Amino acid sequence: MKRLEGKSALITGAARGIGRAFAEAYVREGATVAVGDIDIERAEDAAREIGAGARALQLDVTRQESIDAAVAKAAEWAGGIDILINNAALFDLAPIVDIERASYERLFQVNVAGTLFTMQAVARQMIAQGRGGRIINMASQAGRRGEPLVAVYCATKAAVISLTQSAGLDLIKHGINVNAIAPGVVDGAHWDHVDALFARYEGRPLGEKKRLVAGAVPYGRMGTAEDLTGMAVFLASAEAEYIVAQTYNVDGGNWMS
Ligand SMILES: NC(=O)c1ccc[n+]([C@@H]2O[C@H](COP(=O)([O-])OP(=O)(O)OC[C@H]3O[C@@H](n4cnc5c(N)ncnc54)[C@H](O)[C@@H]3O)[C@@H](O)[C@H]2O)c1
Repeated sequence: MKRLEGKSALITGAARGIGRAFAEAYVREGATVAVGDIDIERAEDAAREIGAGARALQLDVTRQESIDAAVAKAAEWAGGIDILINNAALFDLAPIVDIERASYERLFQVNVAGTLFTMQAVARQMIAQGRGGRIINMASQAGRRGEPLVAVYCATKAAVISLTQSAGLDLIKHGINVNAIAPGVVDGAHWDHVDALFARYEGRPLGEKKRLVAGAVPYGRMGTAEDLTGMAVFLASAEAEYIVAQTYNVDGGNWMS
């Protein structure tokens, strides 16, 4: 039996990478998915390739009017929203002495404010619907501990873990379960960007940082977006009814908590 039959989901940042893999998995499990992204062309390509059940949605999580319009449209398309995945995020890297205020503000706008205010808008929608819901926030192993060059991104992901705890405790009285997933290192365009930044700041050849982090994963390789879909489906399914305010590591053994 399909585990998300009849459910409607909104996934932010779903035009590529992990969010796109989540959209594919949710459609496979019977859900309809609004593929929200700031890059609408790529979101349209993704929705077309995923097929019936997926629709592209223009969404900039840093703009309140964009969030409100996207939530209204997703709810109108599918008769409500049952599942939100707050997946959109940006990465940057710099030593403490070189961090630029603009980089700090951009990352906190997308990763923290974007997560909070999309969660708020969807929670209001879910409360009005009166049938509960599921919210999954994308944290990271970077939110579990600091890293010398990754202060701002790490701080945003620690904030996502904390917001998940507070929102989880606040919203469960409405039947809305809020939880998070903390991936480790997941190969794809995001990590190509991370690798290029490490190459610049640590004076490495391109690809070397990837090889090092992959070799350090206890499982023996970097993750793939597909490695995360099982947890994303589980947390949205009926089986996860009693799970509240948790952050789950899906990282090949990198972090234990
Ligand atoms: N890839 C990894 O190794 C890794 C590890 C831990 C956590 N994560 C987290 O998983 C999530 C997905 O990561 P990914 O690797 O697929 O990233 P990605 O960079 O491949 O995809 C992010 C998507 O978000 C979209 N986006 C950016 N700004 C936006 C905005 N303002 N509004 C709406 N959409 C916006 C981008 O267009 C892109 O499609 C992120 O939250 C990331 O922090 C990734």
